[in-house]
Amino acid sequence: MNAKPFLTLGIETSCDETAAAVVADGTRILSNVIASQVDLHQRFGGVVPEIAARKHIETVFPVIDQALRDAGAGFADLDLIAVTYGPGLIGALLVGLQAAKAIAFALEKPLVGINHVEGHIYANMLSHPELEPPFVCLTASGGHTDLLYVPEFGRYELLGRTRDDAAGEAFDKIARVLGLPYPGGPQISRLAETGNREAIGFPRGLSGEDTFDFSFSGLKTFALYYINNARQRGDTINLPDFAASFQWAIVDVLADKVIRAAQFKGVRRVVLSGGVSANQSLRREVLALAQPLGISVYFPPLDLCTDNAAMIASAGYFKYKAGCSHGWDLNAVPSLRLIEYERGK
Ligand code: KG4
Ligand code: ZN
Repeated sequence: MNAKPFLTLGIETSCDETAAAVVADGTRILSNVIASQVDLHQRFGGVVPEIAARKHIETVFPVIDQALRDAGAGFADLDLIAVTYGPGLIGALLVGLQAAKAIAFALEKPLVGINHVEGHIYANMLSHPELEPPFVCLTASGGHTDLLYVPEFGRYELLGRTRDDAAGEAFDKIARVLGLPYPGGPQISRLAETGNREAIGFPRGLSGEDTFDFSFSGLKTFALYYINNARQRGDTINLPDFAASFQWAIVDVLADKVIRAAQFKGVRRVVLSGGVSANQSLRREVLALAQPLGISVYFPPLDLCTDNAAMIASAGYFKYKAGCSHGWDLNAVPSLRLIEYERGK
Protein backbone atom coordinates (compact mmCIF):
# COMPACT_ATOMS: atom_id res chain seq x y z
CA MET A 1 0.00 0.00 0.00
CA ASN A 2 1.25 3.52 -0.79
CA ALA A 3 2.09 5.79 2.14
CA LYS A 4 -0.40 8.59 2.75
CA PRO A 5 0.73 11.65 0.78
CA PHE A 6 1.98 14.63 2.75
CA LEU A 7 -0.62 17.35 2.27
CA THR A 8 0.29 21.03 2.38
CA LEU A 9 -2.31 23.77 2.41
CA GLY A 10 -0.91 26.87 0.71
CA ILE A 11 -2.41 30.32 1.27
CA GLU A 12 -1.54 33.39 -0.80
CA THR A 13 -2.96 36.91 -0.27
CA SER A 14 -0.01 39.20 -0.97
CA CYS A 15 -1.68 41.32 -3.63
CA ASP A 16 -5.00 41.03 -5.45
CA GLU A 17 -5.59 37.28 -5.64
CA THR A 18 -7.03 35.33 -2.74
CA ALA A 19 -5.66 31.86 -3.31
CA ALA A 20 -5.57 28.51 -1.54
CA ALA A 21 -4.28 25.15 -2.76
CA VAL A 22 -3.65 21.65 -1.53
CA VAL A 23 -0.45 20.04 -2.82
CA ALA A 24 0.61 16.44 -2.19
CA ASP A 25 4.27 15.73 -1.50
CA GLY A 26 5.28 19.19 -2.71
CA THR A 27 4.76 18.49 -6.39
CA ARG A 28 1.25 17.16 -7.04
CA ILE A 29 -1.54 19.74 -7.19
CA LEU A 30 -4.78 18.37 -5.70
CA SER A 31 -6.53 21.73 -5.84
CA ASN A 32 -5.64 25.27 -6.82
CA VAL A 33 -8.31 27.90 -6.16
CA ILE A 34 -7.78 31.53 -7.13
CA ALA A 35 -10.34 34.26 -6.47
CA SER A 36 -9.13 37.19 -8.49
CA GLN A 37 -9.98 40.74 -7.46
CA VAL A 38 -8.97 42.11 -10.86
CA ASP A 39 -12.51 43.30 -11.68
CA LEU A 40 -12.68 45.19 -8.41
CA HIS A 41 -9.46 47.11 -9.04
CA GLN A 42 -9.81 47.53 -12.80
CA ARG A 43 -11.65 50.84 -12.63
CA PHE A 44 -8.83 52.31 -10.51
CA GLY A 45 -6.19 51.17 -13.02
CA GLY A 46 -4.25 49.28 -10.35
CA VAL A 47 -4.55 47.54 -7.01
CA VAL A 48 -6.00 49.64 -4.17
CA PRO A 49 -4.42 48.19 -0.99
CA GLU A 50 -7.32 48.88 1.39
CA ILE A 51 -9.88 47.38 -0.97
CA ALA A 52 -7.63 44.35 -1.54
CA ALA A 53 -7.32 43.68 2.20
CA ARG A 54 -11.06 43.96 2.79
CA LYS A 55 -11.85 41.64 -0.08
CA HIS A 56 -9.32 39.08 1.17
CA ILE A 57 -11.12 39.03 4.54
CA GLU A 58 -14.40 38.17 2.82
CA THR A 59 -12.89 35.59 0.51
CA VAL A 60 -10.10 33.81 2.33
CA PHE A 61 -12.09 31.15 4.20
CA PRO A 62 -14.50 30.35 1.33
CA VAL A 63 -11.44 29.90 -0.92
CA ILE A 64 -9.74 27.62 1.62
CA ASP A 65 -12.94 25.58 1.99
CA GLN A 66 -13.16 25.27 -1.79
CA ALA A 67 -9.52 24.16 -2.02
CA LEU A 68 -10.17 21.43 0.55
CA ARG A 69 -13.37 20.31 -1.21
CA ASP A 70 -11.63 20.21 -4.62
CA ALA A 71 -8.83 18.14 -3.10
CA GLY A 72 -11.31 15.78 -1.45
CA ALA A 73 -9.61 16.52 1.86
CA GLY A 74 -10.65 17.79 5.27
CA PHE A 75 -8.73 19.99 7.70
CA ALA A 76 -7.68 16.89 9.61
CA ASP A 77 -5.89 15.51 6.55
CA LEU A 78 -3.50 18.46 6.36
CA ASP A 79 0.10 18.01 7.45
CA LEU A 80 1.44 21.53 6.96
CA ILE A 81 0.18 25.09 6.46
CA ALA A 82 2.29 27.33 4.20
CA VAL A 83 1.54 31.01 3.77
CA THR A 84 3.05 34.01 2.01
CA TYR A 85 4.33 36.51 4.59
CA GLY A 86 6.06 38.95 2.23
CA PRO A 87 6.77 40.83 0.08
CA GLY A 88 3.40 42.39 -0.68
CA LEU A 89 0.74 44.72 0.65
CA ILE A 90 0.75 44.73 4.45
CA GLY A 91 -3.02 44.61 4.92
CA ALA A 92 -3.42 41.92 2.28
CA LEU A 93 -0.59 39.77 3.65
CA LEU A 94 -1.96 39.94 7.20
CA VAL A 95 -5.28 38.39 6.17
CA GLY A 96 -3.68 35.24 4.75
CA LEU A 97 -1.17 35.07 7.56
CA GLN A 98 -3.81 35.27 10.31
CA ALA A 99 -5.93 32.64 8.55
CA ALA A 100 -2.92 30.35 8.26
CA LYS A 101 -1.94 30.83 11.89
CA ALA A 102 -5.49 30.18 13.09
CA ILE A 103 -5.71 26.92 11.10
CA ALA A 104 -2.25 25.71 12.09
CA PHE A 105 -2.88 26.56 15.75
CA ALA A 106 -6.27 24.86 15.83
CA LEU A 107 -4.98 21.75 14.05
CA GLU A 108 -1.67 21.72 15.95
CA LYS A 109 0.12 21.50 12.61
CA PRO A 110 3.37 23.21 11.60
CA LEU A 111 3.36 26.63 9.94
CA VAL A 112 5.85 27.79 7.31
CA GLY A 113 6.04 31.37 6.09
CA ILE A 114 7.04 31.69 2.46
CA ASN A 115 8.65 34.52 0.57
CA HIS A 116 6.36 35.21 -2.40
CA VAL A 117 9.29 35.48 -4.82
CA GLU A 118 10.58 32.10 -3.69
CA GLY A 119 7.07 30.75 -4.23
CA HIS A 120 7.23 31.86 -7.85
CA ILE A 121 10.43 29.87 -8.31
CA TYR A 122 8.79 26.76 -6.87
CA ALA A 123 5.95 27.04 -9.40
CA ASN A 124 8.50 25.35 -11.63
CA MET A 125 8.71 22.35 -9.29
CA LEU A 126 5.04 21.67 -9.91
CA SER A 127 5.51 21.41 -13.65
CA HIS A 128 9.12 20.14 -13.68
CA PRO A 129 9.67 18.04 -10.52
CA GLU A 130 12.92 16.86 -12.10
CA LEU A 131 14.37 20.39 -12.01
CA GLU A 132 17.59 20.48 -9.98
CA PRO A 133 19.90 23.35 -9.07
CA PRO A 134 22.26 24.88 -9.93
CA PHE A 135 20.33 27.27 -12.13
CA VAL A 136 19.84 30.94 -12.83
CA CYS A 137 16.33 32.23 -12.26
CA LEU A 138 14.58 35.35 -13.47
CA THR A 139 11.54 36.23 -11.39
CA ALA A 140 9.66 39.06 -13.01
CA SER A 141 6.21 40.23 -12.02
CA GLY A 142 4.26 43.30 -11.00
CA GLY A 143 6.24 43.86 -7.83
CA HIS A 144 9.70 42.45 -8.50
CA THR A 145 12.31 41.74 -11.12
CA ASP A 146 15.16 39.72 -9.68
CA LEU A 147 17.92 37.74 -11.31
CA LEU A 148 19.05 34.99 -8.95
CA TYR A 149 21.66 32.30 -8.92
CA VAL A 150 20.34 29.21 -7.12
CA PRO A 151 23.25 26.88 -6.23
CA GLU A 152 20.91 24.63 -4.23
CA PHE A 153 17.27 24.84 -3.16
CA GLY A 154 16.83 27.42 -0.43
CA ARG A 155 20.06 29.30 -1.22
CA TYR A 156 19.95 32.37 -3.39
CA GLU A 157 22.54 34.76 -4.68
CA LEU A 158 21.07 37.98 -5.96
CA LEU A 159 22.86 38.74 -9.23
CA GLY A 160 20.71 41.70 -10.19
CA ARG A 161 17.40 43.38 -9.59
CA THR A 162 15.44 46.30 -10.89
CA ARG A 163 16.65 49.66 -9.66
CA ASP A 164 13.22 51.23 -10.17
CA ASP A 165 10.05 49.75 -11.71
CA ALA A 166 9.41 46.03 -11.94
CA ALA A 167 8.99 44.68 -15.48
CA GLY A 168 5.29 43.88 -14.94
CA GLU A 169 4.78 47.31 -13.39
CA ALA A 170 6.15 48.93 -16.57
CA PHE A 171 3.64 46.93 -18.63
CA ASP A 172 0.81 47.85 -16.25
CA LYS A 173 1.61 51.58 -16.06
CA ILE A 174 1.92 52.11 -19.80
CA ALA A 175 -1.18 50.02 -20.50
CA ARG A 176 -3.07 52.25 -18.08
CA VAL A 177 -1.97 55.41 -19.91
CA LEU A 178 -3.12 53.79 -23.16
CA GLY A 179 -6.52 53.20 -21.57
CA LEU A 180 -6.11 49.41 -21.50
CA PRO A 181 -7.52 47.46 -18.55
CA TYR A 182 -5.43 46.22 -15.62
CA PRO A 183 -3.29 44.09 -15.62
CA GLY A 184 -1.54 45.53 -18.63
CA GLY A 185 0.96 42.77 -19.43
CA PRO A 186 -1.48 40.39 -21.11
CA GLN A 187 -3.15 43.33 -22.93
CA ILE A 188 0.08 44.71 -24.38
CA SER A 189 1.27 41.22 -25.25
CA ARG A 190 -1.99 40.50 -27.13
CA LEU A 191 -1.75 43.78 -29.09
CA ALA A 192 1.93 43.10 -29.82
CA GLU A 193 1.11 39.91 -31.73
CA THR A 194 0.33 41.83 -34.91
CA GLY A 195 2.79 44.69 -34.43
CA ASN A 196 6.31 45.40 -35.68
CA ARG A 197 8.75 45.26 -32.78
CA GLU A 198 11.27 47.41 -34.64
CA ALA A 199 8.76 50.23 -35.26
CA ILE A 200 9.78 52.37 -32.28
CA GLY A 201 13.29 52.38 -30.82
CA PHE A 202 12.50 52.38 -27.11
CA PRO A 203 15.50 52.79 -24.77
CA ARG A 204 16.96 49.76 -22.98
CA GLY A 205 17.98 50.78 -19.47
CA LEU A 206 21.31 49.37 -18.23
CA SER A 207 21.62 47.06 -21.21
CA GLY A 208 25.14 46.27 -22.31
CA GLU A 209 26.42 47.71 -19.03
CA ASP A 210 28.51 45.70 -16.66
CA THR A 211 25.63 44.89 -14.33
CA PHE A 212 22.83 42.37 -14.03
CA ASP A 213 20.53 45.06 -12.62
CA PHE A 214 17.57 46.32 -14.61
CA SER A 215 16.00 49.73 -15.05
CA PHE A 216 12.65 50.32 -16.68
CA SER A 217 11.93 53.91 -15.61
CA GLY A 218 13.67 55.44 -18.67
CA LEU A 219 11.60 53.21 -20.93
CA LYS A 220 8.45 54.24 -19.09
CA THR A 221 9.27 57.96 -19.38
CA PHE A 222 10.10 57.60 -23.08
CA ALA A 223 6.79 55.77 -23.65
CA LEU A 224 4.86 58.45 -21.73
CA TYR A 225 6.44 61.25 -23.79
CA TYR A 226 5.73 59.32 -26.97
CA ILE A 227 2.06 58.93 -26.07
CA ASN A 228 1.65 62.53 -24.87
CA ASN A 229 3.39 63.99 -27.92
CA ALA A 230 1.23 61.93 -30.25
CA ARG A 231 -1.91 63.04 -28.39
CA GLN A 232 -0.88 66.71 -28.49
CA ARG A 233 -0.25 66.52 -32.22
CA GLY A 234 -3.53 64.69 -32.74
CA ASP A 235 -1.69 61.69 -34.21
CA THR A 236 -3.12 58.19 -33.87
CA ILE A 237 -0.77 55.76 -32.20
CA ASN A 238 -0.37 52.48 -34.04
CA LEU A 239 -1.17 50.37 -30.99
CA PRO A 240 0.13 47.00 -32.25
CA ASP A 241 3.45 48.60 -33.31
CA PHE A 242 3.70 50.53 -30.05
CA ALA A 243 2.91 47.40 -28.00
CA ALA A 244 5.31 45.19 -29.97
CA SER A 245 8.18 47.69 -29.68
CA PHE A 246 7.51 48.38 -26.00
CA GLN A 247 7.29 44.67 -25.19
CA TRP A 248 10.45 43.98 -27.18
CA ALA A 249 12.38 46.65 -25.22
CA ILE A 250 11.57 44.75 -22.01
CA VAL A 251 11.95 41.22 -23.39
CA ASP A 252 15.24 42.01 -25.12
CA VAL A 253 16.87 43.12 -21.87
CA LEU A 254 15.39 40.38 -19.68
CA ALA A 255 16.31 37.59 -22.10
CA ASP A 256 19.82 38.91 -22.72
CA LYS A 257 20.61 39.28 -19.02
CA VAL A 258 19.23 35.93 -17.92
CA ILE A 259 21.29 34.13 -20.55
CA ARG A 260 24.41 36.18 -19.80
CA ALA A 261 23.92 35.43 -16.10
CA ALA A 262 23.78 31.69 -16.88
CA GLN A 263 27.01 31.97 -18.85
CA PHE A 264 28.61 34.06 -16.10
CA LYS A 265 27.73 31.39 -13.53
CA GLY A 266 28.56 28.53 -15.89
CA VAL A 267 25.15 26.84 -15.51
CA ARG A 268 23.12 25.09 -18.17
CA ARG A 269 19.68 25.69 -16.72
CA VAL A 270 17.61 28.84 -16.79
CA VAL A 271 14.32 29.18 -14.94
CA LEU A 272 11.66 31.83 -15.59
CA SER A 273 9.04 32.68 -12.99
CA GLY A 274 6.53 35.35 -11.99
CA GLY A 275 3.65 36.86 -13.93
CA VAL A 276 5.86 38.23 -16.73
CA SER A 277 7.10 34.70 -17.47
CA ALA A 278 3.65 34.15 -18.99
CA ASN A 279 4.81 36.43 -21.81
CA GLN A 280 5.16 34.34 -24.96
CA SER A 281 7.67 36.67 -26.56
CA LEU A 282 9.93 36.41 -23.50
CA ARG A 283 9.69 32.61 -23.53
CA ARG A 284 10.47 32.48 -27.25
CA GLU A 285 13.42 34.84 -26.98
CA VAL A 286 15.00 33.07 -24.00
CA LEU A 287 14.56 29.71 -25.75
CA ALA A 288 16.11 31.08 -28.95
CA LEU A 289 19.16 32.46 -27.13
CA ALA A 290 19.54 29.37 -24.93
CA GLN A 291 19.30 26.66 -27.54
CA PRO A 292 22.62 27.25 -29.40
CA LEU A 293 24.39 27.43 -26.03
CA GLY A 294 23.00 24.09 -24.85
CA ILE A 295 21.09 25.79 -22.01
CA SER A 296 17.75 24.26 -20.96
CA VAL A 297 14.91 26.65 -20.21
CA TYR A 298 12.15 26.00 -17.68
CA PHE A 299 8.98 27.99 -17.13
CA PRO A 300 5.69 27.13 -15.43
CA PRO A 301 2.43 26.61 -17.32
CA LEU A 302 0.50 29.85 -17.76
CA ASP A 303 -1.83 29.38 -14.77
CA LEU A 304 1.14 28.88 -12.44
CA CYS A 305 3.09 31.93 -13.71
CA THR A 306 0.81 34.44 -12.05
CA ASP A 307 -0.06 34.47 -8.35
CA ASN A 308 -1.40 31.21 -6.95
CA ALA A 309 -1.18 29.22 -3.73
CA ALA A 310 0.01 25.91 -5.21
CA MET A 311 3.48 27.44 -5.60
CA ILE A 312 3.36 28.56 -1.96
CA ALA A 313 2.38 25.05 -0.84
CA SER A 314 5.18 23.54 -2.91
CA ALA A 315 7.78 25.95 -1.49
CA GLY A 316 6.37 25.29 2.00
CA TYR A 317 6.75 21.54 1.64
CA PHE A 318 10.37 21.71 0.52
CA LYS A 319 11.30 24.32 3.14
CA TYR A 320 9.64 22.28 5.88
CA LYS A 321 11.44 19.11 4.79
CA ALA A 322 14.66 21.12 4.91
CA GLY A 323 13.96 21.95 8.56
CA CYS A 324 12.22 25.33 8.32
CA SER A 325 9.10 26.25 10.30
CA HIS A 326 7.80 29.39 11.97
CA GLY A 327 6.23 30.26 15.31
CA TRP A 328 3.03 32.16 16.11
CA ASP A 329 5.01 35.41 16.18
CA LEU A 330 5.54 35.28 12.40
CA ASN A 331 4.63 38.70 11.06
CA ALA A 332 3.93 40.06 7.60
CA VAL A 333 6.96 41.76 6.05
CA PRO A 334 5.87 43.97 3.12
CA SER A 335 9.38 44.50 1.78
CA LEU A 336 10.78 41.07 2.56
CA ARG A 337 13.91 40.37 0.52
CA LEU A 338 14.84 36.88 -0.54
CA ILE A 339 18.43 37.27 0.52
CA GLU A 340 17.58 38.64 3.97
CA TYR A 341 15.02 35.89 4.31
CA GLU A 342 17.62 33.26 3.59
CA ARG A 343 19.91 34.75 6.20
CA GLY A 344 17.03 34.36 8.66
CA LYS A 345 16.44 38.10 9.20
O1 KG4 B 1 3.22 37.29 -10.31
P1 KG4 B 1 2.04 38.14 -10.53
O2 KG4 B 1 0.70 37.50 -10.73
O3 KG4 B 1 1.85 39.15 -9.35
C1 KG4 B 1 2.91 39.79 -8.70
O4 KG4 B 1 3.58 39.12 -7.87
O5 KG4 B 1 3.12 40.97 -9.03
O6 KG4 B 1 2.40 39.06 -11.77
C2 KG4 B 1 1.51 40.01 -12.26
C3 KG4 B 1 2.24 40.83 -13.29
C4 KG4 B 1 1.44 42.01 -13.80
O7 KG4 B 1 2.28 43.15 -13.81
C5 KG4 B 1 1.05 41.58 -15.20
O8 KG4 B 1 0.89 42.68 -16.08
C6 KG4 B 1 2.23 40.72 -15.59
O9 KG4 B 1 2.56 40.01 -14.43
N1 KG4 B 1 1.87 39.79 -16.68
C7 KG4 B 1 2.40 39.84 -17.90
C8 KG4 B 1 1.77 38.83 -18.67
N2 KG4 B 1 0.88 38.18 -17.86
C9 KG4 B 1 0.96 38.79 -16.64
N3 KG4 B 1 3.34 40.65 -18.43
C10 KG4 B 1 3.67 40.47 -19.72
N4 KG4 B 1 3.09 39.55 -20.52
C11 KG4 B 1 2.15 38.71 -20.04
N5 KG4 B 1 1.60 37.79 -20.84
ZN1 ZN C 1 3.63 37.25 -7.78
